Amino acid sequence: MDDANMEGKEWEGDFDPLADPEEKRHLLSVLESFRSYRRLAHLNGTHVRRQAFYSLPQEYWTMLSKPPFSFLDSLNRLDDLIDSNAELAEAIFTAGFKGFIAPTIDSDWVASIIPEKFARDEYRIYSIVMDHLNVQTTQNDMDKARSCINQFYRDWTAAGNVEREKCFGPVLEALNAEFTARSLSNPTLDRSEIKVLVPGAGLGRFVFDISQVGFSVEGNEISYHELMASSMVLNHTQKAEQFSIAPFVLSCSNHLSRADQFQTFAIPDIHPGTALAINEGSKVPANERMSMSTGDFCVLYSSPDYKGAFEAVATVFFIDTAPNIIRYIEAVRNCLKPGGLWINLGPLLWHQPPQGPKSPEENDHSHGYSYAHDAGIGDPGSVELTNDEVMALVEHLGFCIEKQESGTIETGYISNPRSMLQNTYRPVFWIARKR
Ligand SMILES: C[S@@+](CC[C@H](N)C(=O)[O-])C[C@H]1O[C@@H](n2cnc3c(N)ncnc32)[C@H](O)[C@@H]1O
Repeated sequence: MDDANMEGKEWEGDFDPLADPEEKRHLLSVLESFRSYRRLAHLNGTHVRRQAFYSLPQEYWTMLSKPPFSFLDSLNRLDDLIDSNAELAEAIFTAGFKGFIAPTIDSDWVASIIPEKFARDEYRIYSIVMDHLNVQTTQNDMDKARSCINQFYRDWTAAGNVEREKCFGPVLEALNAEFTARSLSNPTLDRSEIKVLVPGAGLGRFVFDISQVGFSVEGNEISYHELMASSMVLNHTQKAEQFSIAPFVLSCSNHLSRADQFQTFAIPDIHPGTALAINEGSKVPANERMSMSTGDFCVLYSSPDYKGAFEAVATVFFIDTAPNIIRYIEAVRNCLKPGGLWINLGPLLWHQPPQGPKSPEENDHSHGYSYAHDAGIGDPGSVELTNDEVMALVEHLGFCIEKQESGTIETGYISNPRSMLQNTYRPVFWIARKR
């Protein structure tokens, strides 16, 4: 995923989102959701709260405006932190527009609508084009843009390493053990000869980490939010700690102190561009060991083109995105070589329960990772299985279970360790080998 790929075609896969008007509308809506982050966060985060505050009886709001409360100062600080999150959102918008839309737009038309004074400001140029196209976004896309900004905490901050260590650590260990075992019968084996697929790659950190330890890795992702954000951080950041985010700022509940609500974190904790330029100890340069594909995992990796393409598939917090888990298992089986390894870590928070009136439980997205992610396409029906049933299916459909652990890992998902509310997952970890 080097920068040289950026002009024209940034992601792999024979998939042209602009060919389909509905897909194009969705893509523009996602871009608009990042562009409108600043305006909407100020509106819903502070404007509405200021109004509610001034609706209190005057003696109360006067009291709360003074120390030790200084509530209005807190709202001003909240505004500042929204601006800092918005810088990241707008960088994602710029990278996304540049990668997906810019190559398809008539440059003469663009030149005719851009005032000379903005001619060198990419964000302003793309923003003016969006205004001319009269792009609308949806509530769902705006929610996803917000959760995508917060997700940077898990993937690309130093503090997020606590969650990454718990979730990515055991999988990396299993990949290393597999390499060691294979090296016994093939001493000249290079790690880059082990090709790993990571479906549901999210913001790309796990893909990056796998490539950093020497394996070849392909990430796959269906969500434009995630694809644009991962591309921004992997391809367009200039240095480590370029941005600062306040992932907990927009939620005003369960804080022990304002300082807890206003915690900021530098991103990225490591500069991918610098790390990917280092070529030591591998037959294949770092930036060539890593790629990203766009689209529905089931559709892409069930195809004959991908038959036997990978030595390993690593799924982390992913398999429960399946409406039909059988299709996921079949896709993994198709794209693994015989004897290939499937390493899985995650809970079973089924993302697409059967449609019907929503229960309050299903509407509760406070546990960090929500039903609102993009759904895979083209599969009728859905089924929600228990872990025992999933394991039985994996065996039934052509795998040997080599390891199975439950209750050994406890982790949050984008969780604020200082909050009075802690959502803890106890994900299962298992390793299965294709027979
Ligand atoms: C819960 S997130 C986990 C992200 C990442 N693996 C992690 O551990 O942080 C699940 C990811 O899978 C993606 N996803 C869901 N269905 C998919 C599909 N059919 N094909 C590819 N990606 C999919 C979502 O967009 C989302 O980014």
